[in-house]
Amino acid sequence: MRILILNGPNLNLLGRREPEIYGQDSMETLLGRLRAAYPDVELEYAQSNSEGVLIDHLQEAGYRCDGIVFNAGAYTHTSVALHDAIKAIPAPVVEIHISNVHTREAFRRVSMISPACCGVICGFGLDSYRLGIEALRARLQK
Ligand code: DQA
Repeated sequence: MRILILNGPNLNLLGRREPEIYGQDSMETLLGRLRAAYPDVELEYAQSNSEGVLIDHLQEAGYRCDGIVFNAGAYTHTSVALHDAIKAIPAPVVEIHISNVHTREAFRRVSMISPACCGVICGFGLDSYRLGIEALRARLQK
């Protein structure tokens, strides 16, 4: 099983960015833990601060991977183009967020990409990524 974890803008700063919201661990640390926990999963990782590059990743991985765990960061709330890219690919995409976006500013309560995703996980800290993988595994093993 091949799964892509795809991170959007500012998530390259995990561990340094607002640690009270996004935690102390870097993505590299988290990826090490996830790869150890899921030796049967080929776990790929990509991050970009650019909307167009995220679309390129979705288009490329969407025909090659079994599923995508996607934290679109702030583009979640604005991007019709990401919505369309998710709709365009056969791989199921799980939208995830580290923070509970529903308890924060009002603009974070809107997601442009949720209707295109197979499900949404938010508010479990960095564990949201693991829960995203679990959701894809359960779906793919059906
Ligand atoms: C986020 C929530 C978004 O509102 C924010 O813009 C992010 C991170 C999260 O993981 O909690 O960059 O997607």
